[in-house]
Amino acid sequence: MSDSAFHYVDGVLHAEGVSAASLAEQFGTPLYVYSRDALTQAYRAYADACTGRNATVHVAVKANSNLAVLNVFARMGAGFDIVSSGELARVIAAGGRAEDTVFSGVGKSAAEMREGLEAGVKCFNVESIPELHALNDVAKSLGKKAPVSLRVNPDVDAKTHPYISTGLKSNKFGVAFSDARATYAQARAMEHLDVVGIDCHIGSQITEISPYLDALDKLLELVEQIEADGMHIRHVDVGGGLGITYDDETPPAIGDFVKTLLDHIEKRGHGAREVYFEPGRSLVGNAGVLLTRVEYLKPGEEKNFAIVDAAMNDLARPAMYEAFHRIVPVVKRDAAAQTYDVVGPVCESGDWLGRDRELALVPGDLLAICSAGAYGFVMSSNYNTRPRAAEIMVDGERARLVREREEVKQLFAGESILPD
Ligand code: LLP
Repeated sequence: MSDSAFHYVDGVLHAEGVSAASLAEQFGTPLYVYSRDALTQAYRAYADACTGRNATVHVAVKANSNLAVLNVFARMGAGFDIVSSGELARVIAAGGRAEDTVFSGVGKSAAEMREGLEAGVKCFNVESIPELHALNDVAKSLGKKAPVSLRVNPDVDAKTHPYISTGLKSNKFGVAFSDARATYAQARAMEHLDVVGIDCHIGSQITEISPYLDALDKLLELVEQIEADGMHIRHVDVGGGLGITYDDETPPAIGDFVKTLLDHIEKRGHGAREVYFEPGRSLVGNAGVLLTRVEYLKPGEEKNFAIVDAAMNDLARPAMYEAFHRIVPVVKRDAAAQTYDVVGPVCESGDWLGRDRELALVPGDLLAICSAGAYGFVMSSNYNTRPRAAEIMVDGERARLVREREEVKQLFAGESILPD
């Protein structure tokens, strides 16, 4: 978690100037807490490194789509990267602009294409020939030309978890590198498409720069071939994926990452092309924590369990990817620590948030699950008919509820029973 935004004051965890204990008291738990300052700093690191260069930042909405979070970025002039018309609606509601938004995703429906075109998105990142045809048809029906970039799969190993590695031949994403040139030629022949760029996304939680440079080399080689075929590629979209520190990972600083990529592109003679970044996790991940309260301590024969009120439905990453999130006490306790598995109340053995954690606990204590700002709330569900958590944004000394806690009756409001 961002050390400047989340820190201890007299043994009590604070989010900026607000005690996390008081937040839990006021808003209940489980509770997602975001720091405006941490969001701002992370975005500035990207934006500052892009200043004076021909490069723009598109916030990957999927990492955290709360309107208040998106609005913090929109106010700073961010563009956005979306993967559904739902995300487009959020961008607009949060004060973002369709003209600054790129529409990614491997399975856009015709209805989503229509909404994107009507809103005037900046570019569609297209992933297959059938999708090119579909977009051409939709654009034709609207009497428009759709700006497109092809997502090319550069077949590089991003050296990350297999579920979040996306740039290998075996992944479902993108146009195969060997087919890309011919696919561009097909796109060019479609009357209602305007070929404007190229893009790739090789994976997420990548903590080294080298896979990006490998991908870029392949992409730029392709750009040269495509331009030799008579098309002009205005922009190169390098995707998202820069990792963060959850435990002891040491990813490059955001500014160094951006600068290294831009310098590499320039050195290869492509400096005139606009470069798009689509960061998600590195903007929001360490700007959020999930607060939870210990319900029961359950000593076991092999393990001690701390059963807390947050669960896999609130934060799916541990259950889904065996992801590590640091877990820290909200109020430090001067007592001997024990080793606990921190688990939720959901009826699955996969419902754990942290394993083998050294903690000094009594029932009722509050814990903060760190680095929960990315792929946290957005991946939450109502499994076990559990209402989703509330979300809070802290800004200096102030805390604001930016999403109300769900109520049980909302969860089945759209359901009905058979009349007889
Ligand atoms: N652009 C595209 C086309 C993407 O698919 C993604 C993420 C991003 C940008 C943003 O990548 P980031 O900067 O956040 O790494 N749920 C997983 C992560 C899935 C990422 C999917 N794509 C997790 O919790 O680790």
